[in-house]
Amino acid sequence: MNEAQKLAVGTKRKNSTPRPPGPKGTPIMGVMRNFNRDQLGFIERTREEYGDIVWMRFLYVPALFLYHPDEVEYVLVTNARNFIKSMSLRSNFFQRLVGNGLLTSQGEEWKRQRRLSQPAFHRERVASYAQVMVDYTKRLTAKWIEGENRDVHPDMMRLTLEIVVQCLFSADVSTDVDEVGATLKELVKPFASQATLGWILNNRLPTPAHLRFHGLAKKIDKVVYRIISEHRGSGEDRGDLLSMLLAARDEDGSQMSDRQLRDEVMTLFLAGHETTALTLAWSWYLLGKHPEAEQKFHAELDEVLSGRAPTMADLPRLKFTEQIAKECMRLYPPAFGLGREAIHDCEIGGYRVPKGTQVFMFQWATQRDARFYDQPNEFRPERWTEDFIEHLPKYAYFPFGGGPRVCIGASFAMMEIILCLATIGQKFRLEIDRDHPVSIYPAMSLRPKDGIKVVIRNREVKDWRSSISKA
Ligand code: HEM
Repeated sequence: MNEAQKLAVGTKRKNSTPRPPGPKGTPIMGVMRNFNRDQLGFIERTREEYGDIVWMRFLYVPALFLYHPDEVEYVLVTNARNFIKSMSLRSNFFQRLVGNGLLTSQGEEWKRQRRLSQPAFHRERVASYAQVMVDYTKRLTAKWIEGENRDVHPDMMRLTLEIVVQCLFSADVSTDVDEVGATLKELVKPFASQATLGWILNNRLPTPAHLRFHGLAKKIDKVVYRIISEHRGSGEDRGDLLSMLLAARDEDGSQMSDRQLRDEVMTLFLAGHETTALTLAWSWYLLGKHPEAEQKFHAELDEVLSGRAPTMADLPRLKFTEQIAKECMRLYPPAFGLGREAIHDCEIGGYRVPKGTQVFMFQWATQRDARFYDQPNEFRPERWTEDFIEHLPKYAYFPFGGGPRVCIGASFAMMEIILCLATIGQKFRLEIDRDHPVSIYPAMSLRPKDGIKVVIRNREVKDWRSSISKA
């Protein structure tokens, strides 16, 4: 945004005008075609052209794009009560996929589910998952061979799906993982192209694409219901999330139905694996592109681990690895945007916002904003010092969202990312295959379009003490 535009935005904020500036689009479609043609580009251009608060229309639906951390905080935290999840999350597609699970439910139902699920994500509980995370990573890499070409995106998807299912449901989906993974991948496709039209019209027509979608959803249901019935059948309390949900009773003594359980399990399948897998895959990509950062990463692993597998106790010392994860989620936020709907009229940044307005906030844009980050498009993990974090506006960085609907799995994910990076990084270097172009595909999350191809290189673990004594 240039100085004149900044000034214009500042002036407008002082006078309470009825509607913020924004692109008009076409009379019927509004901006929908432009948005669908290039989502990330549209998000960026809109901020450059119109400033921090932008009004537009998708078909007949009014929408606001908010880019400034103050406004993000207002919607997610300060005035969270006035917002429900956006209509995209209430669409048929989403309902069929995750039903009324934790991600999509609202009001009292959401509160109850959040309360029930929370213990599975408490710090002490999450600590007990560390071993599973490291063991499954070792199992994945046991078959890796020096010089082989791999696509790390499906590798990381498989790994994180196995981990989340084992940690939260004590189930091993190794035999189903490829089918579940492939099905989930297909399932979210409708959210990429033409997504908005689907959301808005909430199309129920039996088109081939829709029939295919429902067929795939049935396939996953089978796996999910199998996990639930095995748990129920065994009658044993395995101490995992599914056992807790199975045992939970309402005030009137009733239990969660299989359908409710299915929605919760499915939500965690979906919310709990792709996001983490993407952070891992993009981290390997960024490390492969930045040899100095990669060397620093390896040096930290050699120093802290000296060749042994990482444990929970190593986390406080794997500082640079954590900075890599943070910086990766800044540049490639797996959830690149969040949506809400205003349930009552309200005011945002001096503008009146009528109820029913869809409000969108984009990690993709705010986390690359030069007002908050030096060299915002550069991968610089070392920027994440305590001092930098202290001075950063809180919602200039929100990969896990914020407020009451903040990601329940944030600590789980951070631990998983650091442990998986460390377990793989201490044994291997993932060299980027330069012949394979990498581009972004913004579906529901920020995916690498044709994967991330790497060449596996074995690492010799250097003993950092010997290098110091020689020096
Ligand atoms: C890098 C990894 C992850 C990222 C970037 C991420 C991001 C997010 C974001 C942005 C939200 C808020 C959505 C909104 O406000 O509309 C969210 C919610 C949620 N996430 Fe995550 N997530 C990650 C990992 C996980 C994991 C590992 C789990 C579970 C094992 C999980 C489960 C959930 C659930 C259940 C919600 C809904 C919470 C609620 O509304 O009460 N996520 N996540």
